[in-house]
Amino acid sequence: MKITVIGTGYVGLVTGTCLADSGQDVTCLDIDEGKIERLNAGEIPIYEPGLTELVTRNHAAKRLTFTTDYAASIPSARCVFIAVGTPQGDDGSANLSGLWAVVETIAPLLAENAIVVIKSTVPVGTNRKTAARLAELTGRNVDVASNPEFLKEGAAIDDFTKPDRIVVGVDRPEVAEVLKNIHKPFLRNEHPFLAMGWESAEMTKYVANCMLATKISFINEMANLCEHVGADVNEVRRGIGHDARIGFKFLFPGVGYGGSCFPKDVRALIRVADDNDMTCRMLAAVDEVNDVQKHVLGEKLYRYFDGDLSGKTIAVWGLAFKPRTDDIREAPALVLIDRLLSEGASVRVHDPVAMKNVKAVLGDKVAFCEHHYDAAEGADAVAICTEWNEYRMPDWEFLRHKMKNCAIFDGRNLFDPAAMRDLGIWYTGIGLAGDD
Ligand code: UGA
Repeated sequence: MKITVIGTGYVGLVTGTCLADSGQDVTCLDIDEGKIERLNAGEIPIYEPGLTELVTRNHAAKRLTFTTDYAASIPSARCVFIAVGTPQGDDGSANLSGLWAVVETIAPLLAENAIVVIKSTVPVGTNRKTAARLAELTGRNVDVASNPEFLKEGAAIDDFTKPDRIVVGVDRPEVAEVLKNIHKPFLRNEHPFLAMGWESAEMTKYVANCMLATKISFINEMANLCEHVGADVNEVRRGIGHDARIGFKFLFPGVGYGGSCFPKDVRALIRVADDNDMTCRMLAAVDEVNDVQKHVLGEKLYRYFDGDLSGKTIAVWGLAFKPRTDDIREAPALVLIDRLLSEGASVRVHDPVAMKNVKAVLGDKVAFCEHHYDAAEGADAVAICTEWNEYRMPDWEFLRHKMKNCAIFDGRNLFDPAAMRDLGIWYTGIGLAGDD
């Protein structure tokens, strides 16, 4: 089957590549000529473990091609996946201008039996509007399906090829059948293919992300409370997680969630509620708690240095919003660095893959260090914002020797406070007993 995937961002490239790897004939299309040229030359624009190898192999086998040419790739496609960005607009709503531009362009080129599949995260009602617009533009009914993605950055290939579930929103069961067939190679171990209406599929995507964001803001707020009452959130987490109704997943406290999805989708759903004369009070709280959480490490450092960070040197370990990605969108580390710089501190940073992206934003305002130990050189404190594996087992003696003052502000609770006390290292995490 011929498939065209429009948009070679994170979702589009992973989707196109994994579908090609399952034997489909896939064309990935983007209007960015430079990007297509680079992809054709084997250069992958994003950091995602396993993706380069998969792109290279399928490109060489000619199952995966890259183009900017709509006229050459749309007419022969049975399925046209749209995976263009839907960035957050100024009012929190999703900006759909990219999606509408694609709909206008493909309309006159679509095959009679083409299915237009929307993979981008779009507000409820968008699939119905797309179907109506395509009917206007073509003078016939064009099949439209919603197919939200649940990929996590850093684990996207696995998430695509071993999904917990596949969700499609359709208005005709025959369309669901075609999509089920495409996804057959990935439907193993009883993981279900769930066909539902357009609006339910659109809501499913938002509700999933908002539920996960809610868990994180909830545990972060509880962690902050634990500190005040002398409890340890790690113990509490274990205490609640064994209750299968609660579970252990997504209950790690930290410096707040970041990335391109949770913050944007929580705000978009708040906006959807507004548009429907409703108020999502919980989601507003989830968003607010997360904003506050991003300041927690900065506050702790401020208090530790008695309100005077000027002239202090702070090492920041981890810049990406989470490990195994170079994505720094809404990254808590950037909020911390902003605070430190505004208080007059010098900042030395390290991240295994995201330093290039931070350099593009911060230029020479901070010192970029090749190694996390270099970042700690002469530092008055180390602040950990991302739980990269390489930060998990430091040589403490070496580190103590490098630092001017060995104080660790751990935004990801990587270490055991009791062990740190035994080592004589000043240590604070998020929501740990004895924390201030
Ligand atoms: C998220 C969802 O997990 C995916 O299912 C979804 O497809 C994707 O958004 C999307 O909408 O495209 P992602 O943003 O890549 O994926 O990252 P996650 O692994 O979910 O982490 C999000 C944030 O939550 C990170 O900042 C992470 O550090 C934080 N987090 C996660 C915690 O603070 N505590 C936890 O227990 C788990």
